[in-house]
Amino acid sequence: MEVISTASLAQLHRSIDSLGIRDALQVLSDLYPGKLVFSTSFSMEDQVITHEIAAGKLPIHLFTLDTGRLFAETYAVWNSTLTRYGLPVKAYYPDRLLLEPFVEKNGPNAFYESVDNRKTCCQIRKVEPLKRALAGNAVWITGLRAEHSSARQDLPQLEWDASNQLIKYHPLLNWDTESVKNYIAQHNIPYNPLHDRGFVSIGCAPCTRATQPGEDFRAGRWWWEDNSKKECGLHEKQH
Ligand code: ADX
Ligand code: SF4
Repeated sequence: MEVISTASLAQLHRSIDSLGIRDALQVLSDLYPGKLVFSTSFSMEDQVITHEIAAGKLPIHLFTLDTGRLFAETYAVWNSTLTRYGLPVKAYYPDRLLLEPFVEKNGPNAFYESVDNRKTCCQIRKVEPLKRALAGNAVWITGLRAEHSSARQDLPQLEWDASNQLIKYHPLLNWDTESVKNYIAQHNIPYNPLHDRGFVSIGCAPCTRATQPGEDFRAGRWWWEDNSKKECGLHEKQH
């Protein structure tokens, strides 16, 4: 879509800033009818947003990136989400013409061997499918939270995503973990049981592990790599 100026974005932000999630999403849906997508990894945060979309019957399309390497628990919560809400969730898969030669050449666990291999794996399994999921849309809603990492502290709630040419909106950016957990409990929302076992953020199974309380959540991702290299390309500027 057309590039939005910083001033227009700031004005839009002011108009939704004091609203609850549902109303804010409604305003954006009215502005960009049929052009809002929400990426869910079925994390606690994402489940809150899904609940709001379902409860408000908002015209927002849900999608997930199935890397093929997700935890069994993630597939289970994906399934219970479909049962609970009856909302379609479009799954995007890696392009087999990219994945098959990569795995044939490097084996199934190449990401442990080098940062280059890991980045290529993320590119094939996440970033390329993401580009297809976002194409032609105007607003991308995510479950990013500032508390999740020091690099996400200064993230604006509404931002222009130049690489994908759309507006990115993070409705739960300023929620703390306690509020997310309370919301989940209050509405009896299905959630990934790994959250109760020390997993703050949950990505691919071979690349995610539990963290200690207080530890930056990135410590649970690609832990064998140097901190500076930890990005998967989904949220490029934020890491
Ligand atoms: S990542 O950058 O480490 O991969 P993180 O797990 O923090 O992302 O999730 C932040 C947000 O990115 C989620 O709330 C969701 O909107 C999106 N996201 C992450 N992984 C996926 C996925 N597999 N499918 C769809 N969206 C995802
Ligand atoms: Fe591949 Fe790991 Fe990236 Fe998942 S997180 S796409 S398995 S490197």
